[in-house]
Amino acid sequence: MNYHAPALLTESLDALQLHPGGVYVDATFGGGGHAAAILERLGDKGRLYAFDQDEDARANAMNKPFAGHAGFHFVQSNFRFLKRQLRALGVRPGSVDGILADLGVSSHQLDTPERGFSYRFDAALDMRMNTAEGQSAADVLNKYTAEALQRVFGELGEVRNARTLAQACVQFREKSRFRNTADLSGVCESVMIGERWRYLSQVFQALRMEVNDETGALADFLRDSLEMLAPGGRLAVIAYHSIEDRMVKNFLKTGNIEGTINQDFYGNIERPFEIITKKPIEPSKAETEENPRSRSAKLRIGIKK
Ligand SMILES: C[S@@+](CC[C@H](N)C(=O)[O-])C[C@H]1O[C@@H](n2cnc3c(N)ncnc32)[C@H](O)[C@@H]1O
Repeated sequence: MNYHAPALLTESLDALQLHPGGVYVDATFGGGGHAAAILERLGDKGRLYAFDQDEDARANAMNKPFAGHAGFHFVQSNFRFLKRQLRALGVRPGSVDGILADLGVSSHQLDTPERGFSYRFDAALDMRMNTAEGQSAADVLNKYTAEALQRVFGELGEVRNARTLAQACVQFREKSRFRNTADLSGVCESVMIGERWRYLSQVFQALRMEVNDETGALADFLRDSLEMLAPGGRLAVIAYHSIEDRMVKNFLKTGNIEGTINQDFYGNIERPFEIITKKPIEPSKAETEENPRSRSAKLRIGIKK
């Protein structure tokens, strides 16, 4: 089984406008599909810092072509600590030529039953990308109030009957505890509306985003990226969720995730990036046919001013 098929590969490489001696970051190494293509284009002086918080991704980085490439550095960390980690490696703020992030989870994570990311397998409700720390999906389901669960399902999952589902979870807890994916699927089955696969996908994705604080991490990452990029440096982000795409769009436009237009002392509007993608780049029909998981990908690109 392939670890992960990289989405929008050619488009991401074009976005970065790589030059052989540049300094680059792949914030989401995964199976290393994007990273390998970047490394191929780097010369002896080029450097690639690859981040991933997942232990299995780290194991991939120990293989060829990464191991042994003098310019390759793997950082097993949440990308929300981009600035801190890069500084520790001697990379100064304002010196990075390009940063790529391909958000979300890899096919490997989704397809490994014991990680608990998918409703397709019965397994412990874990869903942590970094299995060494943090709360699991079972913890969220067993501990959150009905209101907090409603927010997770409604805001992150866009589940239409989020309140009903949250209440059904609380009722389930009165007799039992959430342990396995089947516990959650069972509760979903009792209240679901619309197509089964869509409903379960939305609920599981929402929980995963909550467990890993994915929007919080993205906000920190975007801020750090702006600081780490050199003027003329490029930021390319592939998002798979409308909330994340909106955050990226707002950030490229205004320098903040809310999209608030700020003015400096002289009344000039602050625009930290030149935006390359007025509309996001999406995969071609051929790509989505070959790799259906790429279908919701949206790539946005900005050049730091
Ligand atoms: C969609 S996959 C990336 C696939 C990769 N571009 C490739 O070509 O194989 C996303 C990866 O990012 C990692 N990831 C997601 N959020 C992260 C975060 N906040 N910090 C570090 N790694 C993260 C996941 O563990 C996963 O391996």
